[in-house]
Amino acid sequence: MGCNVDLFEYQARELFAAHQVPVLAAMVASTPEEAREAAARIGGVTVVKAQVKIGGRGKAGGIRVVTTPDEAFDAAREILGMNIRGHTVEKVMISQGADIAQEYYFSVLLDRANRSYLAMASVEGGMDIEGLAKEKPEALARVEIDPVTGIDEAKAREIVAAANFPGEVGEKVVPVLQKLYEVYRDEDATLVEVNPLVLTTQGEIIALDAKITLDDNAAFRHENRAALSQAAGHLDPLERKAREKNLKYVTLEGSVGIIGNGAGLVMSTLDVVAAAGERHGGQKPANFLDIGGGASAETMTASLEIVLADEQVRSVLVNVFGGITACDDVARGIVGALEELGDAATKPLVVRLDGNNVDEGRRILAEYNHPLVTGVWNMDEAADKAAELAAAVE
Ligand SMILES: Nc1ncnc2c1ncn2[C@@H]1O[C@H](COP(=O)(O)OP(=O)(O)O)[C@@H](O)[C@H]1O
Ligand SMILES: [Mg+2]
Repeated sequence: MGCNVDLFEYQARELFAAHQVPVLAAMVASTPEEAREAAARIGGVTVVKAQVKIGGRGKAGGIRVVTTPDEAFDAAREILGMNIRGHTVEKVMISQGADIAQEYYFSVLLDRANRSYLAMASVEGGMDIEGLAKEKPEALARVEIDPVTGIDEAKAREIVAAANFPGEVGEKVVPVLQKLYEVYRDEDATLVEVNPLVLTTQGEIIALDAKITLDDNAAFRHENRAALSQAAGHLDPLERKAREKNLKYVTLEGSVGIIGNGAGLVMSTLDVVAAAGERHGGQKPANFLDIGGGASAETMTASLEIVLADEQVRSVLVNVFGGITACDDVARGIVGALEELGDAATKPLVVRLDGNNVDEGRRILAEYNHPLVTGVWNMDEAADKAAELAAAVE
């Protein structure tokens, strides 16, 4: 059994966003100055939220609603460094403020005892779920999920009905539950929890809080991979090499090589590269390569070698959100590949790292200081840079 990794809210929110779960605009800050800047960029009412891997931040004073950038500065100054039940706050997330009409609860988790998954939902969200389960167990719907079929539309409707969501709201909640299940499945999570899932006064359903626990025991993923490669039938030499290395890799027609972790993140990287490519003479993604969860430096090296060996590739975008895969391993893998390739390395790499061990990952790349590597820490900007570099080769 592998170990579990809890993500910070801002990391979980990013995975939600990658899977099109509706979330609010947000930015992370480590200083009051950054918090002020973030609040100014987001604009309007914002919420300063302590990033600690423990719930009940609201009650502990770790969440403050503010109306101006200067107030965000003051709130961040108070919250940063705060100790919330043994967890020191090192970062805050500045989020757009929501006009909340209703707070709901939803989670999906691994039910080891029953060898299945369990979804839980309630129209009485916001409060801590242990409290609700104890005091009003009838208000917490529990629906068993078959891992083979997951939460499809019919299952989502069953959950919504079991929790007594009012008809019109239920209709809006159904697709959100399906997307949340995709996060759970594609990211190898053992828990995805949204408390609260809110209905805004504008009638939108939004995940206002985000909790994800990842599991690096990803055996079923490998089954998926085998099935996928079999379904692909004929494989080109690079695809065969990727398959030997247990990588999910598919060649496409474009010029920007893509390496990412998690199917959801890779898919959304394809989208942003395609969009950025339009601004740069029609550059397109050259491949889909998912290094999967818990990838080592060797995996990263092998992935880069495969993508760089594709003749149509003119630039490569490495987009990794460190969960089980640590960013420093990814950075070491990039260094390893460039060392092995030596003078044969001629194509520019744009690297965007975030999440687990990001600081160490960025430090390794900065120290290596290779002329072909550009670090860009925002996904859209990274995609734009990669497309720009591919266009420049022509
Ligand atoms: N972006 C937001 N806009 C408005 N209110 C928010 C926002 N984020 C959180 N809140 C309020 O703060 C409460 C607690 O936030 P949450 O993110 O669930 O933290 P925790 O579970 O750690 O207390 C929510 O139930 C909600 O009422
Ligand atoms: Mg919460």
